[in-house]
Amino acid sequence: LKEVAREKDMRGLKVLVTAGPTQEAVDPVRYITNHSTGRMGYAIARVCMQRGAEVTLVTGPSALKKPEFVKVVPVTTAKEMFDEVTGRAAEQDIIIKAAAVADYRPKYISDEKVKKKGDNLSLELERTDDILAYLGMHKKEEQFLCGFSMETEHMLENSRGKLQKKNLDMIVANSLKVEGAGFGGDTNIVTIITKDRDEQLGKMSKEDTAAEILDRILSFREGQEK
Ligand code: CTP
Ligand code: CA
Repeated sequence: LKEVAREKDMRGLKVLVTAGPTQEAVDPVRYITNHSTGRMGYAIARVCMQRGAEVTLVTGPSALKKPEFVKVVPVTTAKEMFDEVTGRAAEQDIIIKAAAVADYRPKYISDEKVKKKGDNLSLELERTDDILAYLGMHKKEEQFLCGFSMETEHMLENSRGKLQKKNLDMIVANSLKVEGAGFGGDTNIVTIITKDRDEQLGKMSKEDTAAEILDRILSFREGQEK
């Protein structure tokens, strides 16, 4: 049982994890979202807890069972996630943003159901705030910031760009084009990118991927202390 046998090497650390998609309402019956299930983020939260960390999981709508012994904060929209995450950020040692946050939301939410008329419909969208960029801008000393990125092309360059632009310590990159990676499935194939290097992990369960990511975060932090 590796779950109970895990070394308690995160004892004393406060970790905030985000997971899942966000939902942005169009009207009372419709919303815009994405394919995130929350699995990767939930696995990270659970493994952090098993390793002794004090964990907060800010999660968009997800059908997954809530991990035990984790403070779970459910949210629906990108705005709610922004408020719940930024309000808790200052006290965290490590923040891991596995959530798939909407980049745009409908500019106007109709109070009534939008009725169909005509052959075409355009929805006006507006940008949401970038939570991770905000965290990077307000990063406390010693705080470790890890983002995720999902790409369909130019995975390394694009992800490295996000690492720099958002002032992150690490970004975990996923390619939707690789079999066994990406949304929904039990396994993942990720590339862990830091300022100095990138390392592709093998195909493994999201739980094992979570443990590998956390190993890298802990050794990175140790390296910095020296
Ligand atoms: N992210 C965020 N707030 C947003 C959008 C994204 O915190 N409004 C975070 C995600 O949680 C993830 C990281 O930024 O950790 C990268 O998300 P991704 O969608 O891959 O990149 P974007 O910067 O949004 O760029 P694009 O979607 O255009 O590739
Ligand atoms: Ca995005």
